[in-house]
Amino acid sequence: MSGLKNQDVCQMNILLLGSGARENALAKSLSESKHCSKLFIAPGNPGTAAFGTNVPLSLTDFEQISTFCLSQGVELLVAGPEEPLVKGIRDFLENIPGLEKMAIIGPGSAGAMLEGSKAFSKAFMQRHGIPTARYQSFQQHQAKEAIAFLKQLNAPYVIKASGLAAGKGVVIANTFEEAVSELEQMFGGKFGTAGQEVVIEEFLKGIECSVFVLTDGHDYVILPEAKDYKRIGEGDTGLNTGGMGAVSPVPFYDEKLAQLVKERMVEPTIRGLQREGILYNGFIFLGLMVVNHEPYLIEYNCRMGDPETEVVIPRLKNDLVDLLYAAGTGKLKNHTIETDDLTALTVVCVSGGYPEIFQKGFVIAGLDQVAGVEIYHAGTKSEENKVLTSGGRVLACTVLAEDIRQARAKVYKAIEGIQYQGMYFRRDIGKDLMPE
Ligand code: AMP
Ligand code: GLY
Repeated sequence: MSGLKNQDVCQMNILLLGSGARENALAKSLSESKHCSKLFIAPGNPGTAAFGTNVPLSLTDFEQISTFCLSQGVELLVAGPEEPLVKGIRDFLENIPGLEKMAIIGPGSAGAMLEGSKAFSKAFMQRHGIPTARYQSFQQHQAKEAIAFLKQLNAPYVIKASGLAAGKGVVIANTFEEAVSELEQMFGGKFGTAGQEVVIEEFLKGIECSVFVLTDGHDYVILPEAKDYKRIGEGDTGLNTGGMGAVSPVPFYDEKLAQLVKERMVEPTIRGLQREGILYNGFIFLGLMVVNHEPYLIEYNCRMGDPETEVVIPRLKNDLVDLLYAAGTGKLKNHTIETDDLTALTVVCVSGGYPEIFQKGFVIAGLDQVAGVEIYHAGTKSEENKVLTSGGRVLACTVLAEDIRQARAKVYKAIEGIQYQGMYFRRDIGKDLMPE
């Protein structure tokens, strides 16, 4: 049963960490809950300011965060991005007198290794029989062995810096020579300490899909799936980005596939964490590659995806505070996910030049005029009553509609009303998923 009964509506103060469009979508939903008293977002952005109070805390200054939680009586802390989790924010806060009862969404540093170390996560998948690409991991002093393993594989080669590398640590090399050169650069410090260990794996050709699990350590719920568009260019060309758009639901993710993912991935993951004594309250993001209708797990993240959150959360009918508080306090049993049947589609507007060099500080016009679309802020800042661009990904524009075709028409119409210098977005989000 839910710990938060409707009849005696219990309200709480909430702190959400992060400052992207993911946090803007979470802030909106948290603020709409009848269980939300005060919502704080650290550091937040002009979009989150519409749903709570932004507070200028550093995500890695745990002392400062704990002082804030104590002074504001925070009862639920939701970590948006991975960095504070991998650095141990949960372990730190759990040991602060007065915060023992605060529900925290996000694992301790041991659980966050699922994202923080690709060598750990691949070994974890192997230990628990979860289908994944064939691989080996190598330390800096094992370059010779790594090259010998590359020789056993066929092109293209997948080489991954094991540690956190701001989403840039995966290289797909088309030739053996390129693969060896990448390997040498990673060992040589291209990604700093993240590349001291590398994972080399077999290339899987398929279609990607993201699945999100929320667990209290024993029980779990599976949230709606989403498809992310990672490349900068239309038709999935060009450099990788943080994500240029997303769609949920994903038409090819049928019940059969969902059942396979549950049996082969979700349940072994939850059981595996328990067997290994890793307490985990929070989100588990499964990055899948679907090859001939069979799912393979290519990565875990210990958080929600961005821009996937911007399409998953708007489809969720549950009270988000109720759900997260249950996950944070071991009471998810008997919770079920209620999902809107509508299609959610988000298009990310970026700064010209992103993901390489770009300029920022341009005024964003039209934000007040656009209708029928939810605009989540990512890289923006406000100055003298104006909203300016301040990052690579600037806005995520989300619509809900009957199907992908209508969602695309609606979102691109709305985006016409927004302007800033250098504005760029992909015009093909969801196009590949439409019936011919
Ligand atoms: P990761 O950070 O592990 O998700 O990798 C980033 C991206 O690289 C993925 O979203 C895929 O597009 C691609 N990728 C990673 N591993 C593989 C693989 N084994 N085969 C094909 N593509 C991959
Ligand atoms: N959209 C992929 C991620 O959040 O890592």
